[in-house]
Amino acid sequence: MDKHIAVVILAAGKGTRMKSYYPKVLHPVLGRPMINYVVDATLSLKPFEIIPVVSHQRELVEKHLTNNFGHIFKFVHQKNPLGTGDAVKWAVKHLTDLVDTVLILSGDVPLITEKMLNNLLEQHKSQITITTIELEDPKGYGRIVREGERIIKIVEEKNANGEEKKIKEVNAGIYCFDKSFLLKYIDRLTPNELTKEYYLTEIIDIAVAEGVLISCYFEREGWRLLGINSRAELSIATNYLQKEIIDNLMMNGVTVIAPHRTYIEKDVSLAEDTVIHPDCHISGLTKIGRGSIIEQGVLIRDSVISENVHVKPYCVIEGSHIHSNAVIGPFAHLRPETILEEKVKIGNFVETKKATFKKGAKANHLSYIGDAFVGEETNIGAGTITCNYDGEKKHFTTIRRKAFIGSNTCLVAPVTVGENAVTGAGSVITKDVPDNALAVERAEQRVIENWQKIKKRMIKKEHK
Ligand code: UD1
Ligand code: MG
Repeated sequence: MDKHIAVVILAAGKGTRMKSYYPKVLHPVLGRPMINYVVDATLSLKPFEIIPVVSHQRELVEKHLTNNFGHIFKFVHQKNPLGTGDAVKWAVKHLTDLVDTVLILSGDVPLITEKMLNNLLEQHKSQITITTIELEDPKGYGRIVREGERIIKIVEEKNANGEEKKIKEVNAGIYCFDKSFLLKYIDRLTPNELTKEYYLTEIIDIAVAEGVLISCYFEREGWRLLGINSRAELSIATNYLQKEIIDNLMMNGVTVIAPHRTYIEKDVSLAEDTVIHPDCHISGLTKIGRGSIIEQGVLIRDSVISENVHVKPYCVIEGSHIHSNAVIGPFAHLRPETILEEKVKIGNFVETKKATFKKGAKANHLSYIGDAFVGEETNIGAGTITCNYDGEKKHFTTIRRKAFIGSNTCLVAPVTVGENAVTGAGSVITKDVPDNALAVERAEQRVIENWQKIKKRMIKKEHK
């Protein structure tokens, strides 16, 4: 018979060691709050219910989880967080009758995967199964004390003696219980003498005293179950995950020139033969196609980049869609809703926003193109500005195909420049320009011959 599983996620602790205003479980690992990873891992188990135990800043945690995953949670408020044992006591009170198996996860053990939870469930052959890992540096963790093969207790760091502190097998804080076992024994936990907290780990002592066998799932890759209690641990876990992501990309044909100097989030997808230079930061739902080159120091967030695109150093690209063979940068800023079609060129110190550039269009230097349409093969001269904001509203600029916008043109929107039309350098264009026309808006040039002589004479006069 299928199990009816409840997942309890412990997330009520203060996270004192993080020294933060924010709840620990909302601190991000590679851009995603820790607790998101934990919830993700559980979803495919199709649990009967997911019970986050919350307390410290619980409004923030509850709002965050509901916004990210919907109304799928049964939040339990641990009024006064008195330890992991106390947290589970609160959760147990709210378990639905139909549930028979309870998975207890920690909101601060984020790198857990669905596969590990399945392993844990597979090993769950008695009434209680714990998860252990071996760590070179086990400091801070509960040590697993065995008599022969048999687990007889978990000793917390604070309570461990010298010999126990040397034990490298530790409690990962992930458990599977028969609900009946929890209901029977959870109220027997007593406050720890030293800390006055109720330790969930005391349940092992109780089980042993009652002659209940303890099963164990040992995860070989200990780093996957690191608990995060401090910023230092946060960075260690982040580095492990980052290494795994980048190793995977390299295995699949992506060149990452300096893996230790590259930030790539989990949901980023990079195709074969893309080359990522050092100090790039690629995040969100970004996708990059075959053969694209992303040079030094580029930040790309939530963008789609097609094949053979060349992004030169130090560009920022957000919420944009770039088609094949486009060339961007150096030092370009593509803001959300920028669409660059094939072979578009965006050069240095060009900023775009809500702008579509059709095939082969160019803006090579020093421009702001926002709320605009730029037609095929149009050339935008250096220093062109779309004046899209009148102080109250944003307005649109249309520049049709094969137009030539002279350097330092201001296009005061709403305005349209026709196909094949030209604007003279330095013009402030406030009226539509018809197809094939030239629009020039500037004072006529005056030439004063022999100016240097005239100037001298004027100065002499002044000194008389
Ligand atoms: C816990 C384990 C330790 C294990 C380690 C693995 C206990 C007593 N110790 O220690 O054996 O090696 O995890 O990472 O269980 N929480 C609550 N309510 C509370 C206290 C904590 O919900 O009253 C939550 C925290 O938010 C956190 C989780 O429980 O997500 C674990 O608590 P934490 O204080 O981090 O325990 P550790 O000291 O890491
Ligand atoms: Mg912890």
